[in-house]
Amino acid sequence: MKIVPKHRATGSAAVPAVSNLLKGVNDLKKLPVRVKVRFDGSAVYVPENLMDKFVVRGGNPLLGNIRVSGAKNAALPAMAAAILTDEPVVLENIPDVRDIQTERNLLVSMGAEVELGYGKAHHRTTICCRDLVNPEAAYELVKTMRASTLVLGPLVARMGRARVSLPGGCAIGARPIDLHIKGLEQLGATIRQEHGYIEASAERLRGGHIVFDKITVTGTEDLMMAAALAQGETLMENCAREPEVADLAALLNKMGARIEGAGTATIRIKGVTKLSGARHRIIPDRIEAGTFVIAAALTGGDLTVTNCDPSHLSALLQKLQECGVTVSVQRDSVRIKNGHRLKAAGMSTEEYPGFPTDMQAQYMTLATQAEGTSVITENIFENRFMHAQELVRMGANIKVEGSRAIVRGHTPLSGAAVQCSDLRASASLVIAALVAEGETILDRVYHIDRGYERIEEKLKGANAQIRRIGEILPKRAQVPAGVA
Ligand code: EPZ
Repeated sequence: MKIVPKHRATGSAAVPAVSNLLKGVNDLKKLPVRVKVRFDGSAVYVPENLMDKFVVRGGNPLLGNIRVSGAKNAALPAMAAAILTDEPVVLENIPDVRDIQTERNLLVSMGAEVELGYGKAHHRTTICCRDLVNPEAAYELVKTMRASTLVLGPLVARMGRARVSLPGGCAIGARPIDLHIKGLEQLGATIRQEHGYIEASAERLRGGHIVFDKITVTGTEDLMMAAALAQGETLMENCAREPEVADLAALLNKMGARIEGAGTATIRIKGVTKLSGARHRIIPDRIEAGTFVIAAALTGGDLTVTNCDPSHLSALLQKLQECGVTVSVQRDSVRIKNGHRLKAAGMSTEEYPGFPTDMQAQYMTLATQAEGTSVITENIFENRFMHAQELVRMGANIKVEGSRAIVRGHTPLSGAAVQCSDLRASASLVIAALVAEGETILDRVYHIDRGYERIEEKLKGANAQIRRIGEILPKRAQVPAGVA
């Protein structure tokens, strides 16, 4: 087992450790890696436990409070934004989920100094990109997390060049990044594609006029970051309006950027020559909050989801009220007190402020328990019904026809062995297991660890019967030969 010396996993000292870990381990290459930080600040790399499972006994109402973590999809672009300055960026309310660790590994592999908060500061990270030596996002990391491509714009803007692996296919759809590339070219970058990598370069990006052919969240974020250091003004139209985009602009403006209109379809950016460090608190995770709200509506409990921003959940809460769920909203919490039968209501996923695609799977579970037929239309991703067949294995009545799923309810669910396929599909299966009769065993929960911070502990704290089993390797793992 390779232990990084006492000081933080910084710059050149860390780069060899990460690449050593990835070199020469054929079958283990597929194994995600987890960085464990000891109290003395040293880091240990242990393979993520593919074999972890959840065992859930259904039937318990959710009671009490569940606290929401910071938003994964706001934290990832915020961490990439640190590339834009040579000064430290301090981010608070960072969720402790696997995608954040992947992003840390990515920044460290470029030579960034990444300080992980622990103990009280557990949800804080300080990133300093003063000595970036390697403006590259390697395939090994990008293939485990597509959002790694968010470093493309910031690297070209700050370093004048970037080599970023193309992300390849994804369980929920093709998900190309052509709009990121097209936008960068419109800002004056030269782009070549070679050996599965994007090679981008520009002496200095220049302002331009970008009209997105399609609304893209990370595309808007990537180009907003690039334009922040460009020469002149950039106008971006048909932008994503997600709260995570506005949160990123808030951070960039604290760093000295001049961005107006983030959160609307039109964003104007006046480029500056230099950005400075800043401290920023990441917004709460609206998808995690929505997941717990649906779980509460289905289990017939009395749950308050705290530390969230209800204004980010309007489309979901409106739909739940249509289904007959009693919702009461406070400034930073939502209370669900529900004891009666749900009514079916159709739903179509849309870009924000419409119904989020990241809540579609969880909503499908709810539709299986509602009286009547719900037609669910997925408009954002072309292959996001992987969870439907697993729900059918539990007794649901669902027919998928292209981008539509016809859900006939109410059908009692019974516990079964099911398999997680992607992050949000996993969440829909956890919720189904909470209402199913008997025991459900969820396999491949590493998918859910990507975006939910200790979901089983949070649910257990609210009266659910759920536990994690199946560690293949003890916590302080003896890493198989060839890794150290
Ligand atoms: C973000 O992904 C989120 N990820 C996703 O959350 C979320 O599902 C998605 O937005 C939609 O809300 C992060 O923020 C890290 P898009 P992103 O670009 O930016 C097409 C989760 O569960 N498109 O808005 O990758 C694309 O194929 C994840 O946390 C192009 O054609 O999504 C899709 O059909 C999953 N070309 C549509 O646009 C491009 O260059 C929207 O994708 C870019 C996108």
